[in-house]
Amino acid sequence: MAEDAPTGVAWIDGRVTPLSEARVPVTDRGFLFADSVFDTVRTYEELPFLLGDHLDRLRRSAAALSMPVPWTDDELLSIVGMTINQRGFAGESSLRVMLTRGDGGSGLSFPEPQRPRLVVLCRPVPGGYASMGEAGVHLVRPSRHQGKGGVLGHIKSGDYLDNLLALNEGRRSGGMEALMLGADGSWGEATTSNLFAVSDGVVTTPGLEAGILPGITRALVMHVLTEEGLSLTEASLHDAHLEGADELFITSSLKEVMPAVGLDGQPVGAGEPGPLTTQLRERFAGAVQRIQRAGYTRLSEAFPC
Ligand SMILES: Cc1ncc(COP(=O)(O)O)c(C=O)c1O
Repeated sequence: MAEDAPTGVAWIDGRVTPLSEARVPVTDRGFLFADSVFDTVRTYEELPFLLGDHLDRLRRSAAALSMPVPWTDDELLSIVGMTINQRGFAGESSLRVMLTRGDGGSGLSFPEPQRPRLVVLCRPVPGGYASMGEAGVHLVRPSRHQGKGGVLGHIKSGDYLDNLLALNEGRRSGGMEALMLGADGSWGEATTSNLFAVSDGVVTTPGLEAGILPGITRALVMHVLTEEGLSLTEASLHDAHLEGADELFITSSLKEVMPAVGLDGQPVGAGEPGPLTTQLRERFAGAVQRIQRAGYTRLSEAFPC
């Protein structure tokens, strides 16, 4: 039986089309070599959240791959806005702003000049995330998957194969998310989330030197924890730390703050969302509302040093 057409639209070359009709040429280097970068943004009250930070990270990702970004922030903002306005579904959106190196080049060598291709996908925020945030999810430590580390660890490139293998191994073991090893062999993050552990009231998250993605939700959560006067450290998370934690939670733009109630089939703490994570989820929702109402697009505006 044919699958239902995917819900959503794509902006490509100045036009918004239904996802089922959106096409890029097979000669696109994103398709050939994963020669692309992207960023995932969500909306609240139909407006993109912290879009300035996401575009800054997209530019850093592109710069790390020596890829030009021939669009100004204002142009990108207007393209994202146009895509949301024509999304054709109700409710909040998950936006994937993608930039490929376009066509051309001889084999791996870069085309001269480079003509990047911009694609913006706009789809509904995955159903179920809200209830998973309430009930908590299970995490799995898969057998062998190392985060990318180095330059690629800090950016969102089109190469997510290790993450994809880790996630699918985790899903086979009943996990919603799977952990990835950081540069020093400790647990750095999850396949599309950052990782936090709570022990004796202290919140620990791996530092960026673990080769992890500098998550924008991670940064917001760190600001909120500090505002709340809670103890926060950046340090490696080893097996013993995770196994002995009172609470674990993961963060991402789409998952927000999601408590983990199980790790490899064993309960985390009491096997239900912990009090600190529950409190943090409330404060996080408040911070999101504050930031959206103020019209801030970067955390640096919401939390000036
Ligand atoms: C590997 C990885 N880590 C962490 C995150 C969370 O980042 P953010 O909070 O900016 O969405 C993501 C997001 O997709 C990711 O792909």
